Amino acid sequence: MALDMTSLVSLCKRRGFIFQSSEIYGGINSCWDYGPLGVELKNNIKRLWWQAMINREDIEGIDASILMHPKVWEASGHIAGFTDPLVDCKKCKHRFRPDLIQEKKCPDCGGPLTEPRLFNLMFKTFMGPVEDESSIVYLRPETAQGIYVNFLNVQSTLRHKIPFGIAQIGKAFRNEITPGNFIFRTREFEQMEMQYFVKPGTDEEWFEHWKEERLKWHKALGLNPKKLQFHEHGADELAHYAKKAFDVQYEFPFGWQEIEGIHNRTDFDLSRHQASSGKTLQYFDEATKEKYIPYVIETSVGCDRTLLACLIDAYHEEVVEGEERSVLRFHPKLAPIKVAFFPLMKKPELQELTHKLQEETRPYFLTRYDEAGSIGRRYRRQDEVGTPFCVTVDFDSLKDQAVTVRDRDSMKQDRIALTQLLDYLRKKIEG
Ligand code: GAP
Repeated sequence: MALDMTSLVSLCKRRGFIFQSSEIYGGINSCWDYGPLGVELKNNIKRLWWQAMINREDIEGIDASILMHPKVWEASGHIAGFTDPLVDCKKCKHRFRPDLIQEKKCPDCGGPLTEPRLFNLMFKTFMGPVEDESSIVYLRPETAQGIYVNFLNVQSTLRHKIPFGIAQIGKAFRNEITPGNFIFRTREFEQMEMQYFVKPGTDEEWFEHWKEERLKWHKALGLNPKKLQFHEHGADELAHYAKKAFDVQYEFPFGWQEIEGIHNRTDFDLSRHQASSGKTLQYFDEATKEKYIPYVIETSVGCDRTLLACLIDAYHEEVVEGEERSVLRFHPKLAPIKVAFFPLMKKPELQELTHKLQEETRPYFLTRYDEAGSIGRRYRRQDEVGTPFCVTVDFDSLKDQAVTVRDRDSMKQDRIALTQLLDYLRKKIEG
């Protein structure tokens, strides 16, 4: 059965995935905190992305600062172009996106509306003790600019030839007018971005390459391929920097929506930074003695949106032997807890062996110990948070030196010798 968003929000809270931010003060709109299981899931997604990007010869990672020189945002076009049109109600002063309202009257009080005005989505703050125009800095609305301004630092220090890429994971901030759908659209979120620098003229080929690579990555997370599709941006959707753009979309309960953008940003950003800073950002090709500003193919995926897609995709409710269970069928690589250890009963000899086996497994996986309630209830608790394997130590274990390993999805139980347990789990989880 498909999951509705209200049940998902409540499951996430009940089982420690995601809490409302500042809940004891009534919460703050569109801000969420990842709890103990949520942060594990998020770290697993980030680790899988980082491995896919960095564990190769032609891409390097960086971690740039969130606050950047304000000129960055002038050059990038974000001060002039990163805007949404808004109308204000002249009576109650509420603001709306004109494309989301039907009539020329305020949907809240019926008052008259102003003409649309452009509203910049960047958060502003002040750097230093004086709060005036000259001390304004912005919270970055995308991580990509930290990559552009470091393009030559990375290229020259690591002596990369084009094509090569720079990847980064980090927070981005947008003062979205209509945040919502839980963690889908928030004002603070995390992006995983990679800018691939290529020779002009080869950009279209590289665009196709990265488009296909990125779809493969989402499939490898275990997302249902039938719920993934590309959407090409029409002229009216293209961002101010893009020549061509495709979204990877996932079919959420609220419709097909973007989880990743793949953009051909041409030499837009580097040329603008070169002009604005007065520093050359040209690449010198030793072989051909050519100098040029590279084109950029960007892959930009939201970590929080991917996590939401993974939660929705994994969630299943089913009836097993007359009993209902809800289960998160995460790919084992994504599961926050990989193995749960249970002594059949609270008997010292069973508890001792269970602890010993858990300690042997701990260096490899995140594990948890549970001895509360019946085995059936303990399985259900682990199913609900997506733990792929549960190991039970029973009285026979003391004699036959074997334990029962129960698989979350098939619910099949295998009897595994203690000497084989770690190998068995590693093979199943790491593949
Ligand atoms: N550097 C290019 C860029 O930022 P984007 O399409 O605006 O492109 C890329 O954003 C990804 O960042 C989106 O596909 C989405 O996953 C994520 N994202 C953007 N805005 C978001 C928001 N308000 N809340 C959560 N994720 C967001």
